[in-house]
Amino acid sequence: MQTRLRHFNEEAIAEAARLILAGEPVAVPTETVYGLAADATNADAVARIYAAKGRPSFNPLIVHVADLKAAERIGEFSAVAQALAAEHWPGPLTLVVPLAPHAGIASIVTAGLPTIGIRVPAHPVTQALLRAVDRPLAAPSANASGSISPTRASHVLRSLGGRIPMIIDAGPTERGIESTIIAATGGALRLLRPGPIEIEAEQASQAQIEAPGQMASHYAPSKPLRLDATAAASGEYLIGFGQVSGDANLSESGDLIEAAARLFDLLHEADCSSATRIAVAPVPYRGLGIAINDRLRRAASG
Ligand code: TXA
Ligand code: MG
Repeated sequence: MQTRLRHFNEEAIAEAARLILAGEPVAVPTETVYGLAADATNADAVARIYAAKGRPSFNPLIVHVADLKAAERIGEFSAVAQALAAEHWPGPLTLVVPLAPHAGIASIVTAGLPTIGIRVPAHPVTQALLRAVDRPLAAPSANASGSISPTRASHVLRSLGGRIPMIIDAGPTERGIESTIIAATGGALRLLRPGPIEIEAEQASQAQIEAPGQMASHYAPSKPLRLDATAAASGEYLIGFGQVSGDANLSESGDLIEAAARLFDLLHEADCSSATRIAVAPVPYRGLGIAINDRLRRAASG
């Protein structure tokens, strides 16, 4: 794939919007770091973020919206959360709040969690793109997994060149570090990631700060889960893959992007079924399969 580097102008935004609505991720500057943005309502598009970054595990992603009104369609804001949003948005603050019912956000975005991280960015490029696509955009930092967050288009090109269709270049980002993350999910506010905005909140434990997406609240099915199953035992709901067909299939054609996109939906489905146990067919350990297996192992041990 050839990665096009385009300077910020109306045409570039229109082209980025077309790509995003077609299910592709595009790298765009925000005021913190460059983000790799995809349509948060399209599970396949979000799976392509993971494929491009080569991330070995699923973390919940931050969803970017144009304003508080759009944020309130996908998250539930307590009075405290509303006050923080009013004071700091648009800006480098991410609020983790309960996911709203019927939010329409693909479950791969929240990694199956009942909460969602939302941010209204201040950067004119992200704002223009959000208005052009009129969809919430999931966007982690636009770097390959394990490398440093990009503050210039050239960093993105070095890290993800050939793996994404387009980068919008609007020069170096102003803040250079990722947004402050505050959880406002009931009880006291908790600081999950320190960032450009200082907010008085309870200090989360070191473990929570290092892996905010892996907290105890992380979704795990309530039923025992067996891995590498090639057939369902009695009482099991089998999540198939490829040739192993099962009660539902992650991807009949063995496509790992499709499998990642369906993973959390099928875990929920299996959990809500009348079966008492869950079994999952083997998924190959390559590309996105590594992240899928990581998540499945966690689900099996939880
Ligand atoms: O400045 C930023 O926030 C940049 C720009 C692109 O907006 N984005 C960014 O995204 O840093 P990312 O994916 O690199 O970091 C997202 C962090 C992860 O540590 C994730 O675990 C946490 O946000 N997070 C997202 N949703 C969460 C949730 N529901 N509960 C707990 N943590 C969450
Ligand atoms: Mg990052």
